Amino acid sequence: MQLRLALAAVVLSLCGWGGQALAAAPEDAAASKACVKCHDSDSLPDWSRSAHAVGTDPRAPACVNCHGPSLTHVTKPPGVKEQPKPDIVYGKKTATPTHVRNGACLTCHQKDSQRVHWAGSRHESADLSCASCHKVHTNHDKVLVRAEQMDVCFACHKEQRTQMARPSHHPVPEGLMSCSDCHNPHGSVGPKLAKRDSINDTCYTCHAEKRGPFVHSHQPVTEDCSTCHNPHGSTVAAMLKTRAPMLCQQCHTPHVAGGVGAVGGQRGVFPPAAPGQVAPAVTGTSNGKNVVNIWQGRSCLNCHTQVHGTNNPSTANPSPGFLTR
Ligand code: HEC
Ligand code: HEC
Ligand code: HEC
Ligand code: HEC
Ligand code: HEC
Ligand code: HEC
Ligand code: HEC
Ligand code: HEC
Ligand code: HEC
Ligand code: HEC
Repeated sequence: MQLRLALAAVVLSLCGWGGQALAAAPEDAAASKACVKCHDSDSLPDWSRSAHAVGTDPRAPACVNCHGPSLTHVTKPPGVKEQPKPDIVYGKKTATPTHVRNGACLTCHQKDSQRVHWAGSRHESADLSCASCHKVHTNHDKVLVRAEQMDVCFACHKEQRTQMARPSHHPVPEGLMSCSDCHNPHGSVGPKLAKRDSINDTCYTCHAEKRGPFVHSHQPVTEDCSTCHNPHGSTVAAMLKTRAPMLCQQCHTPHVAGGVGAVGGQRGVFPPAAPGQVAPAVTGTSNGKNVVNIWQGRSCLNCHTQVHGTNNPSTANPSPGFLTR
């Protein structure tokens, strides 16, 4: 029994709970009483309902946990004209180094699983502070509100703002999703701050059906969804970076009579002959695959409907599947 309690305590303290890690020490709370003599609730914005300000929560930080003891600020030393600044000041014009500001937050928050990869992350190395995204003295930290988070990100990421405004996009502007559904802004082991260990694993959290396994998978799909899709938005339907056939021709030169990569038999004349010119001679059988099918309707997808992978067993062909139904 005792062993189990001890284990529980270790687990709790590793998680940052239960121990000193996520709490204001009593002496810090006492020191902060001095602050509110001058900075009363009227002088600060209303933050009474925020997670940090719950007076009854013993884990909630005191002023000095985030701003430092600030002794010279509290009691202006004699002979000094202006009241010195607190030890830790936030905001754009602050003289407090970023790592000191972030260090204050991390004393309580670095053990959270969400932030274990903050050190060395793209945002950390770009000198962002926690307060670049988070507001503390407010009941409404925009970055935590699904429908408003993107505005915080867009302040620095203009390109994604443009992409999200395109006709085909994830429903982020509609407030149904947020950037942090795919990104962990605090850092990750995946590329581009992907929330999971890879881009595909991130996509599979919602598009599980694309994971397969398929009898015949399509190599670029299993490698990286963003080869064909721009997850932020596109003018092409289904967030495709470009439309078929160009999309597919980045890697394939199929159905070209006698062309490199062509399969045997006539696949139609491709590319089609320019007006007034004679189309190149074509040999082989037609198999019903022709120019019309490539340039009209859904192009390559007219036939290769299962571009993400197919379970078509197609035992008749040594290289079966062909991403058809
Ligand atoms: C004797 C009154 C007094 C006390 C005590 C006091 N402050 Fe201040 N504080 C001020 C004044 C005056 C300013 C400058 C005007 C302003 O920004 O409100 C200020 C400014 C600040 C600022 C903003 C600095 C900036 O440049 O943006 C912070 C943060 C701050 N105080 C925190 C604290 C903390 C934390 C404590 C307690 C450890 C504290 N203050 C105690 C009077 C006081
Ligand atoms: C969890 C960390 C944290 C705690 C606790 C905290 N502050 Fe702040 N404080 C900040 C941050 C970050 C800012 C920058 C503005 C913001 O995020 O709202 C700030 C800004 C300020 C300012 C500048 C004025 C303003 O609104 O921007 C004053 C004054 C201040 N804090 C005083 C206090 C006092 C007094 C306490 C205790 C009652 C306190 N702070 C507790 C983090 C904290
Ligand atoms: C003394 C410990 C302590 C410090 C220092 C501290 N926090 Fe917190 N923070 C907490 C506690 C406790 C909570 C509430 C956790 C909970 O209820 O799950 C919290 C919650 C939060 C939340 C979630 C708020 C919500 O509504 O869910 C954010 C964001 C946050 N802190 C950011 C910061 C930032 C930014 C700083 C530095 C400016 C900071 N914290 C400094 C203890 C601290
Ligand atoms: C680039 C913007 C950005 C920066 C910088 C940032 N955060 Fe966050 N933070 C967010 C977003 C977005 C969320 C909401 C995450 C979600 O919805 O999954 C969040 C959530 C949180 C939460 C509450 C939920 C959780 O993940 O536990 C805490 C606590 C927190 N941040 C602390 C910090 C601390 C500490 C720092 C600095 C080391 C920091 N943040 C830096 C954007 C940021
Ligand atoms: C559906 C998942 C998803 C959503 C939602 C999402 N992203 Fe991304 N983001 C990605 C993927 C995947 C990449 C990497 C591939 C790429 O750049 O297209 C990426 C890359 C990025 C990059 C790096 C671009 C570069 O060229 O290096 C930034 C910046 C970015 N996203 C910001 C945002 C912002 C801001 C939001 C919210 C408005 C957001 N993302 C929403 C999936 C997403
Ligand atoms: C204060 C400015 C700022 C804010 C706010 C901000 N970022 Fe960034 N972000 C940067 C900088 C600077 C970089 C690194 C340079 C670059 O890639 O543009 C970056 C890089 C990124 C990257 C690319 C990471 C990589 O590995 O290339 C992603 C993804 C990203 N941010 C997502 C977000 C999301 C999501 C938010 C909102 C929750 C956000 N950012 C808020 C400044 C910001
Ligand atoms: C948090 C859940 C979530 C994640 C993660 C996610 N998506 Fe989506 N995806 C959606 C939702 C919601 C829709 C919109 C469905 C609708 O509008 O009917 C969507 C739609 C799509 C569409 C179809 C758009 C259309 O117009 O038909 C594509 C393509 C897509 N996502 C690709 C991706 C890729 C690639 C990733 C990984 C980078 C990804 N998604 C990650 C939720 C998610
Ligand atoms: C080789 C290019 C390519 C790759 C790589 C790719 N897709 Fe697609 N995706 C397409 C095409 C083309 C469409 C349009 C299909 C259609 O119109 O029938 C599409 C459509 C979609 C759709 C919307 C229609 C549907 O089938 O549900 C989703 C969601 C989607 N893709 C998710 C993903 C995910 C997740 C990944 C990574 C696992 C991925 N895609 C990788 C080409 C690709
Ligand atoms: C980024 C490169 C890339 C793109 C873009 C791409 N593919 Fe592929 N595709 C491949 C690779 C690699 C293979 C596997 C080749 C092999 O096994 O010999 C493949 C295989 C195929 C196969 C043969 C499958 C089988 O069962 O043998 C078909 C059909 C196919 N792709 C159609 C398409 C279509 C249609 C598109 C456009 C929607 C497309 N591909 C886009 C790289 C790509
Ligand atoms: C009219 C239907 C049809 C259209 C349109 C079509 N294909 Fe095919 N494709 C097939 C069939 C059927 C096969 C199987 C091989 C065979 O039977 O000769 C095939 C085979 C393939 C293969 C695998 C063999 C090889 O050549 O390497 C690739 C790759 C391919 N197609 C890509 C494409 C691309 C890219 C497009 C669009 C430019 C396209 N296909 C348009 C029907 C079509």
